Amino acid sequence: MAQVQRPLVIQSQFIRLCCPRNARRIPIFSRARHQQLHTSTVTDHDIVRLASLPLHPLTLADLVKHGRPPLTTSQLLTSANFTLSILPARLAHRIQSLRNLPFIVVSNPHISKIHSNYIHSLSTLLPWAEREITTLEDEVKFTEVMADLVQTHSNTISILARGFLEARKYISPKDVTRFLDEHLRARIGTRLIAEQHLALHFSSQPHQELTQDGADETSSFIGVIDTKLRPAKIVQHCENVVGEICELRYGVRPHVVINGEPEYSFAHVPVHLEYIITELLKNAFRATVESGMEREPIEITIAPLPEDSIENSGTETDAGVVIKNSDQGTTDIASRAFTGMPSLSPSADEQIRPLAHSTPGVTIRIRDRGGGISPEVYPHIWDYSFTTFNEDQVSSTLSGGSPSKSGSGMDALSTISGAGGDGVNSLAGLGYGLPLGRAYAEYFGGGIAVQSLWGWGTDVYLSLRGVGRIDD
Ligand SMILES: Nc1ncnc2c1ncn2[C@@H]1O[C@H](COP(=O)(O)OP(=O)(O)OP(=O)(O)O)[C@@H](O)[C@H]1O
Ligand SMILES: [Mg+2]
Repeated sequence: MAQVQRPLVIQSQFIRLCCPRNARRIPIFSRARHQQLHTSTVTDHDIVRLASLPLHPLTLADLVKHGRPPLTTSQLLTSANFTLSILPARLAHRIQSLRNLPFIVVSNPHISKIHSNYIHSLSTLLPWAEREITTLEDEVKFTEVMADLVQTHSNTISILARGFLEARKYISPKDVTRFLDEHLRARIGTRLIAEQHLALHFSSQPHQELTQDGADETSSFIGVIDTKLRPAKIVQHCENVVGEICELRYGVRPHVVINGEPEYSFAHVPVHLEYIITELLKNAFRATVESGMEREPIEITIAPLPEDSIENSGTETDAGVVIKNSDQGTTDIASRAFTGMPSLSPSADEQIRPLAHSTPGVTIRIRDRGGGISPEVYPHIWDYSFTTFNEDQVSSTLSGGSPSKSGSGMDALSTISGAGGDGVNSLAGLGYGLPLGRAYAEYFGGGIAVQSLWGWGTDVYLSLRGVGRIDD
């Protein structure tokens, strides 16, 4: 049986096609059907009960365990039931976490909108909870619920950003960063689970005819994971996107040189890599152009880790920066501090583990000559909402201000569409790029380290673990 062939870099677009968003709907999820989603009233009791359940120990093995696409009907039903078994508790944890914010903060219309979105999603999932999906008809309906979930939460980040900006008098930057870091990391996992089922659904035997792509048995995708992901190809794609916007805005674009091992490939989630590289390139392009160094190339080195790298040991870069896997991202820390869970230490249930036989992975160094980061700015670069764009420019971004008004490059770069269907297209200049990029990198045990040579340039080391070798 043939399977769906999707372009390497733009798998996110496949997901966006699958998940109705804006006008991009395919017939099965037409607006009319979409509105008929069955919902239940979510009570406080439901939330407390579900939030008291431990989080499922999601592993990448979970995402690929249903087999290579195209899934058979029974494999697809297993995937649906697995997805159903873990999402309600995750949503309830998020609702609890929002409710634990100071009341005046949750009362902000934007933050309260996010709270209502979670209640909406849980209410569409509740009619499915505690039952088993046994027919294809139910699986289709359940997949509509997943598409609704992904769509409902697509703009979460920009809405939260606006809400926290408005509520900044009532909550400290430290608490905002703490909340957002947990919330957005948890969201990465929840989206991954939902999108994986959507992707598996559309490339499954029973539903294959719904996809518009051609079929190809050689596809390297298992749902949202590309088992032969070539980082250099993602870099080229992101360079084009960021470069075009940069040129539109500034009239110039720096060029990118890729060296190291551009042919290297590994198994990872392309939309995550796309998101991270876009953010890192936005920063490098902006710094390079604003310091008038656009003639100097941005150098990107793809450096695979040696095959015999010891798992969980740190990765030492040539600048002496140690990126430790053990303290970066093997744990889904979501829901601990804000939900009153009994233990603050990560339990086995909360671990996000790479596949048992994980490949060592790769370090990608992005080196620019943009003048580096000043000592005053450097301590804040990981804070959500810290940006060296000024407040007017931030407000202009949030209100969708046009580039011509501000006279800066910020809103030009803001039009970059967020990779990963994350609704981050209006985020530029909000100071979310580095912390959120790091959250994506750490999700599967990687990391980001920034080394600034003030007055000269910046080296950013993105380390990614391979998510495993997936053999037939
Ligand atoms: N390569 C770089 N060169 C110089 N400064 C940088 C570089 N990368 C980051 N910075 C500094 O770190 C700050 C925070 O970066 P971050 O990407 O988190 O936010 P931002 O770029 O301001 O906004 P956003 O990424 O949300 O569009 C930037 O405002 C900038 O001052
Ligand atoms: Mg940035």
